[in-house]
Amino acid sequence: MSLQAQSSEVVIENLGLSFGDTQVLKGIDLTIKAGEFFSFLGPSGSGKSTLLRAIAGFGPEPTGRILIGGQDVAKLPPWERNVGMVFQSYALWPHMTVAKNVAFGLEERKVARAQIDKRVKQALDLVDLADFGERRPSQLSGGQQQRVALARTIIIEPRVLLLDEPLSNLDANLRVQMRGDILALQKKLNLTTIFVTHDQEEANTTSVRMAVLNHGILQQVGAPMELYDAPANRFVASFLGTANILEGEVRTNGQLTAFLSSGGLQIPIRQGADSITAIAIRPQNISLHTPGGGTSEAELRFKAVVSDIEFLGSTLRYAVKTGQETMLVDHVHEPGDRVFALEEQVDMAIVPDHVTLLRG
Ligand SMILES: Nc1ncnc2c1ncn2[C@@H]1O[C@H](COP(=O)(O)OP(=O)(O)OP(=O)(O)O)[C@@H](O)[C@H]1O
Ligand SMILES: [Mg+2]
Repeated sequence: MSLQAQSSEVVIENLGLSFGDTQVLKGIDLTIKAGEFFSFLGPSGSGKSTLLRAIAGFGPEPTGRILIGGQDVAKLPPWERNVGMVFQSYALWPHMTVAKNVAFGLEERKVARAQIDKRVKQALDLVDLADFGERRPSQLSGGQQQRVALARTIIIEPRVLLLDEPLSNLDANLRVQMRGDILALQKKLNLTTIFVTHDQEEANTTSVRMAVLNHGILQQVGAPMELYDAPANRFVASFLGTANILEGEVRTNGQLTAFLSSGGLQIPIRQGADSITAIAIRPQNISLHTPGGGTSEAELRFKAVVSDIEFLGSTLRYAVKTGQETMLVDHVHEPGDRVFALEEQVDMAIVPDHVTLLRG
């Protein structure tokens, strides 16, 4: 295999970007390592595509700096940045064959014919479409079109592969299969890859690290599990999975430092976190018990009443009222397990170690 990637690092420094008077990216600092699979994750309108496009050189000129492989690319047009971008719509040319579509980037670069033919074959082989070169895009399935878009991008041997929600047009099963294929290709070519998605599972399963964006501001960067287990703020805690977020304040009384929620729950926390005004607890880190039953010393107990029950398949999700707080609690569902009834009195148990202090 001779398709190569030079696999460059991408460094973003204090990046800002506005459309007219509206600033949509603010103070972004981020380093994506060479060869890393990295995701931008965030809700619709958070600036993911805008940031990706700024790296590729599309859109208004940003403030701050973008370095690709140590080179400041601010003044370079997209085609001189040597990055490959796959758009959500694939943007294949319908009147050209698959092979022609894939060859296009090299033809534009005036690569010799024999070389083009060889690389088209390699690129189509890599995405498992060796026999599809003479078809038109309309004669392909969504997943195959997606692979043509990938082949067309990697054939130019980009320093960085940029993928803007490349799976969103595919059905659920194909998405799972394609994300595996993309990951395998990325590993094979050792390509620095930035993947934009608003689908957490997609980001979690593919990425070494990811950045969560909201309103054009970077919220947190880290490995998927790190962000899930130690979200820095309210937004990340509730965007990644489900979290009970309790507002309140820290009170110290003699030896005891505790977070007192506005709904009346008191949870001991470590000292030195006086400025905390919110905590998060995941539903699966809370359990329900018949009153007085199954006590463990590590747990805090609160009296609660079941106010809602949802059967989600692998879990039972309860809402319980305790003091003025309503908390979600997930129990793993097993056949024949004890199901609490609506209005039933229960004990709600929390392990203080599972409480996350939120800093913003
Ligand atoms: N060409 C444009 N002109 C003006 N505003 C724009 C333009 N493109 C994007 N925006 C605005 O910039 C913000 C960020 O948009 P962007 O497309 O980056 O979001 P996104 O995170 O990719 O969202 P989605 O998940 O819906 O694709 C939005 O508020 C959007 O309305
Ligand atoms: Mg987008």
